[in-house]
Amino acid sequence: MTGWSLMIHGGAGQLHRDTLSPEQSAGARAGLDASLDAGAAILGEGGTALDAVEAAVRVLEDDPHFNAGRGAVLGYEGAVSLDAAIMDGRDRSGGAVAGVATTRNPVSLARAVMAATPHVLLSGAGADQFAREQGVPQAGADWFATPERLRQHAELRARGDGWFDAEMKYGTVGAVACDAAGNVAAATSTGGVMGKRWGRIGDTPVLGAGTYADNRACAVSATGSGEYFIRACVAHEIAARLRLGGASLGSAIADTLADVRALGGTGGVIVATPAGAAEWAFITPGMFRARTDASGHREVAIFGDE
Ligand code: GLY
Repeated sequence: MTGWSLMIHGGAGQLHRDTLSPEQSAGARAGLDASLDAGAAILGEGGTALDAVEAAVRVLEDDPHFNAGRGAVLGYEGAVSLDAAIMDGRDRSGGAVAGVATTRNPVSLARAVMAATPHVLLSGAGADQFAREQGVPQAGADWFATPERLRQHAELRARGDGWFDAEMKYGTVGAVACDAAGNVAAATSTGGVMGKRWGRIGDTPVLGAGTYADNRACAVSATGSGEYFIRACVAHEIAARLRLGGASLGSAIADTLADVRALGGTGGVIVATPAGAAEWAFITPGMFRARTDASGHREVAIFGDE
């Protein structure tokens, strides 16, 4: 037995005190709090890390302050295209979806892929079809597309350069946990990059890139410029440095993010180990993030200096 721990993120990026309004900041903090509550309620009652990360991410998907589920960014043509993954460190079983458009909580669809198919990753209309067959709740475009995202999308299109949000301002959400039995799990969900097209998919649903869990090492959920996180195999790289390289948790994370930076990428990670340790790190000005554990310690933060 070990003490449980839970860590969540709501995306890393250009988060500065003078650009995030007090209302946005307070709304995001409330969302992070609610997500922690959902996951901690499960872990505190002896539930599994897998259930906790799914529950925590579902809350963030339903919260329009974050780029996942409701409030996801819009692709170039103005529609959402959602990616998510979940992974269980006990046996490295995992499920993921990419490019879904009608499923309200993509993380729960990812879990259904893991639990009810022989597959790991489903995409597009087929994944939404599978969701309907499994009774996973659906939602219309008006659920996902908030007025603020419509405004940001119109602004991007008005620039007229035919490209996506290269600054990748809008993040991703995720959770990692270690339960009282010492099992770890990770879940991540995102709308990806504002203005994306051609079926672009980032690191979130790619196991080993944006999401990974292995009881022999750790659970990882990433946020950032997905192309670089895929190229650096970030989540698996951190796990491998721990398991095979004998690195400390801090240096495994720091060295992996340094590699992302060297490639030209940016972002952050949250990591939980089977011993109950948890750490976050980011190479951006801020990251929406929060943590709690069996001792009752609780922390919610956004900016780099808090
Ligand atoms: N990190 C999320 C994405 O690049 O899609």
